[in-house]
Amino acid sequence: MCGIFAYTGTKEAEPILIDGLTRLEYRGYDSAGIYLKGGEVVKTKGAIQELKSKLVGKDFEGATSGIGHLRWATHGEPNETNAHPHTESAGSVFVVHNGIIENYKTLRERLSSEGYVFQSETDSEVLPALIHAHMKVEGSFEDAVMAALKEVRGTYGIVCASREEPDVLIAARMGAPVVVGVGDGEYFVSSDATPIIRHTKEVIFLQDGDVAVLTPQSYRVRTHEVPQIERVPEHITWNADEASKGGYPHFMLKEIYEAPEVIENALRGRAVPGLGEIKLGGLEPIRDILADAKRVVFAACGTSYYASLIGEYLFEDIARIPVEVEYASEFRYRNPVIEEGTVLIALSQSGETADTLEAVREAKKRGALTLGVVNSVGSSIARETDAGVYNHAGPEIGVASTKAFISQVVVLALIALYIGRMRDVSREEVDEFAETLKDLPHQVEKLLQHVEKIEQIAEKYADMRDFLFIGRRYSFPVALEGALKLKEISYIHAEGYGAGEMKHGPLAMIDELFPTLAIAPSDSVYEKTVSNMIEIKARKGPIVAIATEGDAKIQDVADDVIYIPKTREKLSAILSAIAVQLFAYYVGVSKGYNIDRPRNLAKSVTVE
Ligand code: M6R
Repeated sequence: MCGIFAYTGTKEAEPILIDGLTRLEYRGYDSAGIYLKGGEVVKTKGAIQELKSKLVGKDFEGATSGIGHLRWATHGEPNETNAHPHTESAGSVFVVHNGIIENYKTLRERLSSEGYVFQSETDSEVLPALIHAHMKVEGSFEDAVMAALKEVRGTYGIVCASREEPDVLIAARMGAPVVVGVGDGEYFVSSDATPIIRHTKEVIFLQDGDVAVLTPQSYRVRTHEVPQIERVPEHITWNADEASKGGYPHFMLKEIYEAPEVIENALRGRAVPGLGEIKLGGLEPIRDILADAKRVVFAACGTSYYASLIGEYLFEDIARIPVEVEYASEFRYRNPVIEEGTVLIALSQSGETADTLEAVREAKKRGALTLGVVNSVGSSIARETDAGVYNHAGPEIGVASTKAFISQVVVLALIALYIGRMRDVSREEVDEFAETLKDLPHQVEKLLQHVEKIEQIAEKYADMRDFLFIGRRYSFPVALEGALKLKEISYIHAEGYGAGEMKHGPLAMIDELFPTLAIAPSDSVYEKTVSNMIEIKARKGPIVAIATEGDAKIQDVADDVIYIPKTREKLSAILSAIAVQLFAYYVGVSKGYNIDRPRNLAKSVTVE
């Protein structure tokens, strides 16, 4: 995945492009580049900071439009030549691209035989050459882009500029997100809305097949079939502060601290104590189908997959419906059996994860009803699913997903109650649950008052080379998620296990240098988890426990304890997840790593 940003208007484009790219930095940071109207391409290996240094002393005065790119390599190593924008031999067409051109080899061979010389190892470089070749035939820049796109197979979010028609920018989308910001006498193009909202809150989420033709005075969206198609701008309600660090040292920490608000936003108008039911407008049109559903399959990746595992427990406990949870990347290639009455629920913060999107398409093809639990409004998964529920968690910028996980679990609890109410959950039970949910933001705030303690414990264990995370029932997915968070942020080898699995293998690894983080809230499996901790202690393994406030007994077996407030068993995962997020965060900080930009990773994985 990569980040694209472009501007056309009446202002100096360079600072606007740099600001936009800086806000997209989480999307890719192995190389960066810009092209400004009438000037040269400036690009570099490394992140936006390196690009800024390279721009010092260059004069782009008067350039009121331009295109920019941040790369996260898919074809060819991260270096200056492979960085975007790409241009063709004549240096007249410029393209930034996010996605993969699958037939680039064939196109490249043909264009080479026509005299085009290619410099990079990328698939993207064929695009400017292809457009340039068509300009010789078609004449206009727009017609040439349209003709070129007809020949391309694969995925793209692109913006193109040309020296021949310097006032025109053309953006197009096929499988990779493109957002157009509609300002007053100025237009923006971006991979997501985050960098646009400080300029304008009116945005158009391009759909697959859309092409936007922008000049400083006007915009028009078209497709191959229709020269002008109506795409009404949507009004974004986030403010610019929500998309910036707001005084926190890292986005990750800011986003963890947003949990109380995130929970409130997920609940607003949906779970009102006293109502006796859950209101989910997005599911109303398919209410009857859900009532008769025979089976639910969750498809997701990474953190969203672990949230789905909690969904499995919630759906089985509350709605009494059989559930399977699938890695989206496996589901789509497994020839899955989809019987009548199967509902596929795709969980995705970004709504753009390629594997999850393909799982949705595969399930649809096989006749399943598809639902999306998505944070990014207007994203591909949100659009392609039959129905769904938004998280309303606001933009998540930190590569390590935190607040999205919290809101996913809340939304899954709501859907479980929604379906459960149509089966055998009573109005009273819904109301009791809604009361607990209402209290949850307050519980999180109480937990956040003890952050220093978590920081101290994290510092104590920061030099360990390995970590085991264990838990049972609702705490098992949290153990998996905790291990993932620690790996991502601190590069410490970590594994998550069901505590009951210890004796079946992992216990062999335990010694005084192999610590365990045991998630042991006071729930129905507490005693069992404590027994597993005692077995670890007997092998001299250091233990950090996450336990419920008031549980002094746990100190007999754990070396260190992180206390979380008491809530009902089905929701304790939300509190313990925040504790493991903070633990991973402070270990990473203590090791001096770049928290918001873990190496080798990108925020949204829009390629397989
Ligand atoms: O946008 P999605 O929720 O579909 O993303 C799925 C994963 O790529 C994501 O959760 C990833 O595992 C995070 N970096 C974990 O912190």
